[in-house]
Amino acid sequence: MNYLIETYTLNNGVKIPKIAYGTWQIPNEEAYQTTLDAIRVGYRHIDTAKSYHNEEAVGRAIRDSGVSRDELFVVSKLRAPALGYDQTIQAFNLQLQELGLDYMDGYLMHAPWPWDKRGESCDVENVQAYKAMEDLYKQGKIRAIGVSNFNVHDLQNILDNCEIVPMINQIRFSVGYTQDEIVDFCSKHNILVEAYSPLGTGSVFQDETLIDMASKYHVSVAQLCLRYCLDKGTLPLPKSKNRERMIENAKLDFLISDEDQKILDEMDEIKRML
Ligand code: A2P
Repeated sequence: MNYLIETYTLNNGVKIPKIAYGTWQIPNEEAYQTTLDAIRVGYRHIDTAKSYHNEEAVGRAIRDSGVSRDELFVVSKLRAPALGYDQTIQAFNLQLQELGLDYMDGYLMHAPWPWDKRGESCDVENVQAYKAMEDLYKQGKIRAIGVSNFNVHDLQNILDNCEIVPMINQIRFSVGYTQDEIVDFCSKHNILVEAYSPLGTGSVFQDETLIDMASKYHVSVAQLCLRYCLDKGTLPLPKSKNRERMIENAKLDFLISDEDQKILDEMDEIKRML
């Protein structure tokens, strides 16, 4: 199966490729080539954000790739501090311009608080920003709207005060970091969970349990971890600057036994390497 073109269906009927090429931590100078490589090896879902500082290069790679725009699913995110209705409309238009695109497939609110005020309550501002995203969606400028790093409270605030149920919540999710409460909540509301740092930003490669289990299936640790994300119904966004690894990360045609799934479910927290 080609997981790069296989899709999940979002709660508004829009289809979204099951694996995305994640571009966090890839600087603008490198993002052109890596995004181009990702598209050339078959990735059709590309994920970026204002705060990654690489939208210019990612957009240029998308435009130069030769793949028609409607075959690609491009997602970007509203920078967390850009809260409020007008700022959101303005930020979105600038990002669209930076990417050099006419519309975005996905646009997510990057976090429920500004980065320098992590954990602070911004319920009112989040509703205002989300309402702006709803209007952009209604105008056809975005095909799917959503959020990122939202917990149950943050999502409930949107559900209670806005009109459109978010289609996506992008959160940190990996073997050893499964965030069951928010994942269950999203599943109940038909909100797709996207898994960022599905490889623990690299830390999974040192784990002996994963190394042993992967060798039993004759797959790599990366493949084991990404298969796990798909088995949990999430959409992983693996990052790699390496073409061969990009290809490896999409070859996920194997089955994890129920017994091993249980071992993976119960693994201790795997800290990220940042
Ligand atoms: P590289 O860019 O050199 O391939 P995450 O997706 O959780 O953020 O993890 C990204 C990290 O995992 C990067 O350091 C990336 O390094 C590494 N990585 C991605 N895919 C693989 C793979 N198949 N094998 C080994 N390392 C990988």
